[in-house]
This record gives sequence, C-alpha cells and structure tokens, in this order.
Amino acid sequence: MKKFYITTAIDYVNAKPHLGHAYEKICTDVIARWHRLDGDKVWFLTGTDENAQKNVQAAKEAKIPVKQFIDQNSKKFIELCKKLNISNDDFIRTTEGRHVNVAQKIFNDVFKKKDIYKSKYQGLYCNGCEAFLTEKDLVNGECPEHNKKPELIEEEAYFFKMSKYTDRIKKVLSKKGFVLPDYRRIEMLNRVQSEGLKDLCVSRPNVEWGIEVPFDKDHKIYVWFDALINYYSGGKDYWPADIHMVGKGINWFHSVIWPTILMSAGIKLPKTILVHGYVNIKGKKMSKSQGITVDPIEIADKYGSDALRYFLIRDIPFGEDGDFSEEALKQRINGELVNDLGNLLNRLVSMASKFKGKISGKGEINLDFKKIKKHMDNFELHKGIEEVFNHIRKVNKYINDKEPWKLSGKDLSNVLYNGLENLRMISILLEPFIPESSGEINKQIGVKAGKLKDCSYKTFNGKIKKGEYLFKRV
Ligand code: MSP
Repeated sequence: MKKFYITTAIDYVNAKPHLGHAYEKICTDVIARWHRLDGDKVWFLTGTDENAQKNVQAAKEAKIPVKQFIDQNSKKFIELCKKLNISNDDFIRTTEGRHVNVAQKIFNDVFKKKDIYKSKYQGLYCNGCEAFLTEKDLVNGECPEHNKKPELIEEEAYFFKMSKYTDRIKKVLSKKGFVLPDYRRIEMLNRVQSEGLKDLCVSRPNVEWGIEVPFDKDHKIYVWFDALINYYSGGKDYWPADIHMVGKGINWFHSVIWPTILMSAGIKLPKTILVHGYVNIKGKKMSKSQGITVDPIEIADKYGSDALRYFLIRDIPFGEDGDFSEEALKQRINGELVNDLGNLLNRLVSMASKFKGKISGKGEINLDFKKIKKHMDNFELHKGIEEVFNHIRKVNKYINDKEPWKLSGKDLSNVLYNGLENLRMISILLEPFIPESSGEINKQIGVKAGKLKDCSYKTFNGKIKKGEYLFKRV
C-alpha cells in the first residue's frame, strides 16, 4: 500500500473560520479522499496555529483569557471540519505538548548545528502576517495583505542562517513539481534569484505567549518557525509529506523558509507545495474589518455541506482566485445538483423499484475514467468534477434516447442495468467531492461504497430502496 501524507495550513485562531479556511480544507479533503479511493494509506492532517501574537491581541480585545479564547476558537475549526465532512485523520494544535516538544527539539538541533545565532533586530513587523517586512514589501506604507501599517521593532533576537541555504534552495526550486501550479514555483525561484536569502529572525523576546526557546527562557520561538513544524510533529510516521496545501499568500513560507529549516535539521523535504487561490466575496477580498466575510457553517446549514463543497470546487479553477455568492451557489444547486444528478437518481430508482425481473444487460455507455483520473492527478479538481457531471448528463441522455417507459422485459432490464451501473460508478467518483450524496446514492441503489478500481461494468446486485430527493431546489 502506498502512503500518502497531505496537510492543510494550520489556521490562526484570532477569529472564527471564514469561507477561505473552508475552501482550503475542502480542496485538501477531495485529494485525500481520492487517494483513499485509489487504495493509498492516507494521513490527512489539519489543525490550528495557536502561538501567534495576533491570537493574543484578539483575546485581549475580547477580554477573555488567552488560553480560554484559543480553546474556544480552535473548537470552531474542529466543528467546521465536522460540518463539512472533512476526513482529516488528525487535528493538531500547536499548544499541545506533542508539538511543543518537537518544535523545541528542532530549534535546538538547528542551534547545535550553529545555524542559529543571537543578534540585534530592527525592522517592520506586520501582526497580520506575523512576519517582518521590508520597505519594498509595503504599498503606501502598508502591508498589502492586511492593509495595515507595520510596527517598528528593535530587539535582541535569535537568527536562523537561512542565507547559508541559498544555493540549495535554488536547486530545489529549479525542479518542476516542487511547487504547483508551475507559475507559483517560478515566482518563488525568481524572488530567491533577485533578492537572495537573508537570515531569518526566529525568536521574540519578552512576549508572554508562545513556545519557549529551549535554551533561553526570555525568548519565544518565532511563530512561523514553530507553526511550520506542525507538519512534522503531526505526521512523523508518514514523513515526508506528499502535499502541503496552502494559499498563495503563504507560499514563500512553505516553498523557501520551511525547506531551509528542514535542510538545517537534516530532515527530508516535502514533495510538493500545492498552492491554491483565494475565495473572494462578490469580487472583493474577504476582510473582517470591512465586514466582508462569509461564515461557512451558516452556508452549510442553509444549503447543505455537499452543495457548498460542490460549488467551491466546481466554480473556482484550482490555483486561481474565484468568487462566492449565494446567487451563483443557488444556480449550481438547481442546475447540476438537482436537474442532472438528483434527477438521474430519482428516475432510475423509481423505474427500477417497479421492475419485477432481474436487472442485467451489457454496458453501452462509455465512461472516460482516464480523463477524470488525469485531471485529478494534475490537481485540476474543477475539471475532474466537471467531467463527472458530463458523464451524468450522458447517462441522462442515454435514458431519454432509449425511452424506457415504452420498453419492457429484457430491453427495459438492459436500460436499467446501464443506468444503475453507471450510477454506481458515478457515486464512487463523486465520493471525494460530495461524500454525503455519494453515500445516499449507494443507499438508494443498494450497493456498498466502492473504490476507483470498481469503476467498470459488473453484475448489478443492488437492492433498490427509494429514498428522499438528493437535493432540494432553492
Ligand atoms: N497560520 C498561518 C498558516 C501557518 S501554516 C504552518 C495562516 N493562517 S490563516 O488562518 O491566515 O490562513 C490559513 C489558510 O487559509 C492559508 O493557507 C491561507 O492562505 C488560507 N486563506 C486565508 N484567506 C483565504 C481566502 N480568502 N481564500 C482562500 N484561502 C485563504 O496563514
């Protein structure tokens, strides 16, 4: 059995989850589920980034003790995973002992290797990024990611000799496949080539919250150094990770900083950093301060988690930015989910439950499985699901053309066989995208959940049990 280790970024817990967090988890879940269907031994890790100063600030503003505030918000991310049927195998919180120990050990190992030294730091710190910025990063004096003026900080700190790894990181980034889509790799390579690598400040003195530097209790480990290590502390047995799924704004941390830390610590590098775009709301970037934010739990409660999953994957070309609106979501529900998929299930189980004979026949509709698989292997999730729905429409058309309501006996049996066998295969292919509906289809056509290897015509043995409509028109 091949192992497959996939992660999401771990979310800050300064606020409750928004639709962007949901999007990343759904994309990752689709890939994790696809690999399970393919027979891989999957480890899917997600979690929360709890040692950031911005969590502390938010707790203070809310007038809640930091620990309590963080526990409260972390729970909301766990609830989000449940609500969206995210199939993560573990959920790591960076305040847990199992992580703290590993983070301190790696910090110590890098120190022992003489890759960490003490010096003075003066620079601009953006609380939103939890990172030091240079004048060049700013737009009108503000951080362009967070539209906020960074704070000028002067302090004693430990530094990581990242510059030492410049040549090695260039080599890593020169290999196709380390960062995907490929233009995201080129972006990083160009940046390393034009700016080079500077040493990285990896501790903060006199802050109350965070993981202590193991050999200096006056310093806390810089939150990104600690947070990146979650991938290792939460999946050592599966290391190296096959995929780190991250948003485009934190590509540098994953494609450049993380590999250099691992090089210094003598740990293997992850295989691929997979970069997704952002979900915008009616063309605008999500922003809590401007009140442009969507609560994924509310949307899932209102329309169902499968509908939200389907919409985000289908509507946003993977890698690019995309837009969310309830109007567009409703169109997808009424169109593909109700008209194409719901209708196919409904008409087939209605006809089949009235049919008294044995359902058998010969496969007449061609499923282009290879095409779907190719899209999935290339992480073109939107194209993968689109192709499954093209097939659904093909099966619907087959039924319309055959006019089974005019048929009986063997001829009718053959049409039902083709419809139900295709529905069984469609249900397998839909499982990564809309797992709840896939389960419901299996229940109504009376078959067990299959694997990708079962996507070919077999004897149909299902016991039909008509149930509710899969999706309700909105
Ligand atoms: N805590 C860091 C990540 C540390 S990973 C070792 C962080 N947290 S975050 O909560 O700000 O973002 C978590 C993930 O959500 C990131 O991959 C980020 O890019 C992604 N998204 C945040 N806003 C987003 C959208 N509007 N759309 C899609 N994803 C976006 O960064």
